[in-house]
Amino acid sequence: MPHLVPRIIRSSGALGARIEGLDRSQANTPDTAALLDQALAEHLLVVIPGVPMTPDETRDLARAFGEPRVQLLRRKRVGTVPEVSTMVSTLMRDGTTDKTAYRAEDWHTDDSYFEIPAKATLLHGIEIPSRGGATWFCNMHSVYDALPEATRGRIEGKRAIHGYDTPRARNRPAPRTPQEIAETPDVEHPLVRTHPVTGRKGLYLNPNWLDRIVGLPRAESDALLDELTDEARKPRHHYGQVWSVGDVVVWDNRATMHRVVNDYPVGEPRIMHRVLIQGERPV
Ligand SMILES: [Fe+2]
Repeated sequence: MPHLVPRIIRSSGALGARIEGLDRSQANTPDTAALLDQALAEHLLVVIPGVPMTPDETRDLARAFGEPRVQLLRRKRVGTVPEVSTMVSTLMRDGTTDKTAYRAEDWHTDDSYFEIPAKATLLHGIEIPSRGGATWFCNMHSVYDALPEATRGRIEGKRAIHGYDTPRARNRPAPRTPQEIAETPDVEHPLVRTHPVTGRKGLYLNPNWLDRIVGLPRAESDALLDELTDEARKPRHHYGQVWSVGDVVVWDNRATMHRVVNDYPVGEPRIMHRVLIQGERPV
């Protein structure tokens, strides 16, 4: 029996599309993978509903979008499938959560502290609280397009320093092992990225990890980064994902930021499996 061509249903928010009618075990066949990867570039986020999968199945689905890569923080890796990490963001009774999850509450893009940041991130809902815990996404093409002409002129061709830690961060990171520190030196990226598939320009921001703009005095750099971040915080650029168990959500780190809202009930497990997809050097 020929399998159905998946339908791509655009969300009503600033980005995102839902993929319906897809047999997820067939996602990584050439035609379907090309369709999914193109939908990711155009919509910046795709939601693929279904039931919970094994780590092997999750990795295989992720291959539709590129090459999965192993995760930096060893303690998060799922035993037998190092490309799949377990992200626990359950809220504890004392009001805290896993430090990484707490840090994820502010807008960020995954991995910009690497020279070659992940192209995309796949999250798969394993256990989801009964309410709350939406993940919000920001369309960085529309943020760039919304900037005043003069501001776009000021940032054209500028580069910025990203680090795993910066005094500008609202939430500082958890301690890393010496090996993890050695693997995360500061890196420089363009402030304006051109999407390699669509050719669209987008702001490449990461408020908790972006330290300064190269060539500007600290105060001027801070003021400009604050101005750019303020635009990105406007709801008109956002889409909110309300999770169901089994959902797969893949987003394009080349042109989005995201944040989680920690408003879900204390003690209810919130567990995701994550796969990072190998990217290319930002240009
Ligand atoms: Fe993240």
